Amino acid sequence: MRVLFLASEMAPFSKTGGLGDVIAALPGSLRSLGIDVRVLLPYYGYPKRSELRLLGTVHPPYTKRLGEIWSLGTDDSIYFLRQPEYYERGGIYQNAAGQDWEDNPERFAYVNRVAVELCQGRLPFLDWRADLLHAHDWQAGLAPYLLALESRIGAPRPKTLLSIHNLAYQGRFAPELLDILHLPKEDFHPGGVELYGSFSFLKAGLVFADALSTVSPSYAREIQEEDLGMGLGGLLRSRQQDLYGILNGIDVTRWNPAADPYLPAHFTAHNRQGKTQCKIALQTEMGLIPDPQTLLLGMVSRMVEQKGADLVLALVPQLMEHPIQLVLLGTGDLALQEQAQRLAWQYPGKMAVRIGFDEGLAHRIEAGIDAFLMPSRFEPCGLNQMYSLRYGSLPIVHGTGGLADTVRDLHQDQRGNGFVFRPASQEALAQTIARAERVFHTENWQWQAAQTIAMQENHSWQRAALEYQSLYRHLLSGA
Ligand code: ADP
Ligand code: GLC
Repeated sequence: MRVLFLASEMAPFSKTGGLGDVIAALPGSLRSLGIDVRVLLPYYGYPKRSELRLLGTVHPPYTKRLGEIWSLGTDDSIYFLRQPEYYERGGIYQNAAGQDWEDNPERFAYVNRVAVELCQGRLPFLDWRADLLHAHDWQAGLAPYLLALESRIGAPRPKTLLSIHNLAYQGRFAPELLDILHLPKEDFHPGGVELYGSFSFLKAGLVFADALSTVSPSYAREIQEEDLGMGLGGLLRSRQQDLYGILNGIDVTRWNPAADPYLPAHFTAHNRQGKTQCKIALQTEMGLIPDPQTLLLGMVSRMVEQKGADLVLALVPQLMEHPIQLVLLGTGDLALQEQAQRLAWQYPGKMAVRIGFDEGLAHRIEAGIDAFLMPSRFEPCGLNQMYSLRYGSLPIVHGTGGLADTVRDLHQDQRGNGFVFRPASQEALAQTIARAERVFHTENWQWQAAQTIAMQENHSWQRAALEYQSLYRHLLSGA
């Protein structure tokens, strides 16, 4: 079984969020099941070209630019598409001011066109073609459509699966782009690639892929409804039979409290002394008062409306009246960033904020905190709550999407591993933090029991890989 992954991020080469983590880990798990998975992604300048090997040049149809396909010297299953004008600039999707690159449609259409050439075995320097294209998010949404166009003219083509990591990002552009991208106008209607007057890469994929999946069973249900369907609920309902919810896993090697190279001390479910050392080290690193008795809350997140960072920030003055500390790492919305920094100045020693993207600090926060805040308004899957579970940091989450599928409230479930609240309101969050504070201080045995349960859970990619394998088989059998 030959599968091509098409995506716009892959850690550690490129990452703005969980997609990068998924593309870094899932192909390897599928390979260990015997599936020949290759990954195609744009080359944004990492790794250095001295670590890469040039395989050949490409000039996809209806495009003006030449590109190059490079692979890792050590791993020839990852194909980097190099096109410096398109991809080698600071920012994968946006400029430094946080605005989307204007030529995003051309940039991502280009890699989609190359994916089609690769899938169809039309790259002469690669003796390979795909049985199945597994595309991820809007940036890869055009390829299933382009392949459907190939079958219209009678060409054989691979099966196609589009995975939705986040329905909120729809790749919507002006209809004039159809001309610029040399796409037929006949599909520009509400049953095709049109989404309320604009042309949507995501919708093209959702309409034309053979099957659809998303990254948790709950989110698969939620997106068929008005609210979280984000204008695509009706379409997703109509494709219900082809829509699968497969919960993400986490890379248990890179996120392992017993051996994590980013941590000052290590720990396991049965010996958590190292976790206390990590807590004191984190408090020191972040300028908080070092004290293992204080409840230390943390958040690592893209700072956007989805993640509910505004709910946390609005609550800070109230929280700071309690013996609670808060550490926050994130980037995103400029207003939220400023608000967070202002609050940190207001509560020195109790609240610390780092604006930026810092992999090592993300690991140290997961290890050093007592509880992780994830009041996301919606969450397709979420990886941070699973990292938290593995590091014995109890997640406090809004019960939505993948959060509802991974976190069980310890007041409602004997096997509880965290705290769950609904709705995503400031009041519900405040009450739940108060509840967590009570358990931490007065029922600490229950806290510890939940930590042990959380740390012993298996969230590795193995289960998800088996589910994708059976979905691939189902698609290829034509059933
Ligand atoms: P999303 O993909 O919606 O952002 P996920 O929870 O699936 O949410 O994944 C987020 C990933 O990005 C995690 O690996 C998290 O640790 C990482 N991350 C988010 N913000 C930062 C940051 N500022 N610094 C380091 N890592 C971050
Ligand atoms: C998206 C979602 C997140 C999910 C990640 C990986 O960024 O927002 O919930 O975990 O993709 O699938």
